Amino acid sequence: MRVLGINALFHDPAAALVVDGETVAAAEEERFSRRKHGKRPVPFAAWELPELAARWCLEEAGLDVSDLDAVAYSYDPALARPADEMGLDDPWDHLRQTYAQRAPGFLASSLPGLDPASVRFVPHHVAHAASAGLASPHADAADVLVLDGRGESASHLAGRYEQGNLEVFRTQELPHSLGLLYETVTEHLGFLRSSDEYKVMALASYGRPRFLDELRRAVYTTGDGGFHTDPIDWQSLVKQRRGDEEWTADHADLASSVQARLEEVLLELTGWLRERTGGTALTLAGGVALNCVANTRLFESSGYADVWVQPAAGDAGTALGGALHVARAEGDITTGMGGADLGRGWTDDEIEAWLTTARVAFERPADVAEAVAECLAANGVVAWFQGRSEYGPRALGHRSLLAHPGHQRNLERLNDVKGREQFRPVAPMVLEHRAREIFSHGPLPSPYMLFVHQVSDQWRDRIPAVVHVDGTARVQTVSVEDEPLVARMLSAFERRTGLPVVVNTSLNTAGRPMVDDPRDALECFGSAPVDLLAIGPFVVRRFGAGR
Ligand SMILES: [Fe+2]
Repeated sequence: MRVLGINALFHDPAAALVVDGETVAAAEEERFSRRKHGKRPVPFAAWELPELAARWCLEEAGLDVSDLDAVAYSYDPALARPADEMGLDDPWDHLRQTYAQRAPGFLASSLPGLDPASVRFVPHHVAHAASAGLASPHADAADVLVLDGRGESASHLAGRYEQGNLEVFRTQELPHSLGLLYETVTEHLGFLRSSDEYKVMALASYGRPRFLDELRRAVYTTGDGGFHTDPIDWQSLVKQRRGDEEWTADHADLASSVQARLEEVLLELTGWLRERTGGTALTLAGGVALNCVANTRLFESSGYADVWVQPAAGDAGTALGGALHVARAEGDITTGMGGADLGRGWTDDEIEAWLTTARVAFERPADVAEAVAECLAANGVVAWFQGRSEYGPRALGHRSLLAHPGHQRNLERLNDVKGREQFRPVAPMVLEHRAREIFSHGPLPSPYMLFVHQVSDQWRDRIPAVVHVDGTARVQTVSVEDEPLVARMLSAFERRTGLPVVVNTSLNTAGRPMVDDPRDALECFGSAPVDLLAIGPFVVRRFGAGR
């Protein structure tokens, strides 16, 4: 079976291709269109499709649209109800439903040759669930928990995969939604709703949960696997922050309170699920699963031996989940994703041609890993462009900005390159076999940066740039087998500095999607204070820097 997965309706449009049960390609539209998140998640934009990502997926596999056996669309309009009946204040939601119903026709017109009858509507949370259960290494036996803002008429799914088949135990109907709760407080704190939720998580570390009692009264589990989120008068707790205002201790306390309550509720929901199944592996998806602080709390306290999170846990991941679900339903044996590097890649010759066309001076060092380590050890900032781009919001050593972790000022330096708020941390990548002596209180290995870890006392002063205010770090572990080039770069850096850790943040500048193709890489290098661009086996140096 050749199944194209499409996520289009709400957030982060994306496409994925599953051929005979294997994930061949997956990418978000924003990487092609260069528009952050692909589009705004408003009803008026719900018709827009990830056309560029879908075309590329087919091209990558050498397929024509007419070769497809099925197209999975990660939303089923037949399950939706009018917004006011669901208690949502969303007067234009009916537009979404109309666009979803018409999606087969829209798909056929944007991908000529596509048979509208081949389009299958996959319930939104089933697509999320498949992106966790079926894409994980645990498809034969995994509990699954999905939590997001909303799907058709629910915001949650709790179930279990056995031999690749999903049994759903419980869903939570709208308007109750932990994702919408978090989005609402994101907006109240002056950040961009449906986009900046991770800033609230970072801000929470600066506060105390002094509104926890109020939150507990409004947000609570119902004892049957579901939960309630009653409306909260945020203004009565903390005055709304305008986007251009400085944040205060009050704002941090509110963020801390919501974060703490979210973690408590998640533990109760997973407790209910584990009691029912006796499962040992928990898989997670939905936007809430991008909350790496909560994920670590689940890893430490939920009783599951393993917690696996889909790296594209937001709606982008439903393109892959939808495709995997349809492939399974049609009898294919699906395999888990081997890594998040499912996007575009270029051969050395192709990269050389880009550099030649751009007329930049470049070199081909004997080993690009050594050249990069040399520059980093001299406290240079490196743009690192290697292999296929990542699916999901994290840079995992394919489209990364790298720096020396031993200099506190590098946090500020990188946040300046990226135009980010200074309260936000940057993350470490570390050689997998060295991780345990430096990081604890989270799962190791941790290849997808979806958990936070505690930095041991002996190491805090050695890698200050990656230690958040609460003593944690969002670690990516790098194994020699899975990521030989990145591992070699880390080893080369360790030989020079004694540190098996490098600062890793996504390769992009303010407000832009992550770099995807060589032109993006050159534009980013040209406009940001980066000392070295390592692209494939080549390096481009900023004049007079990095030597
Ligand atoms: Fe979702």
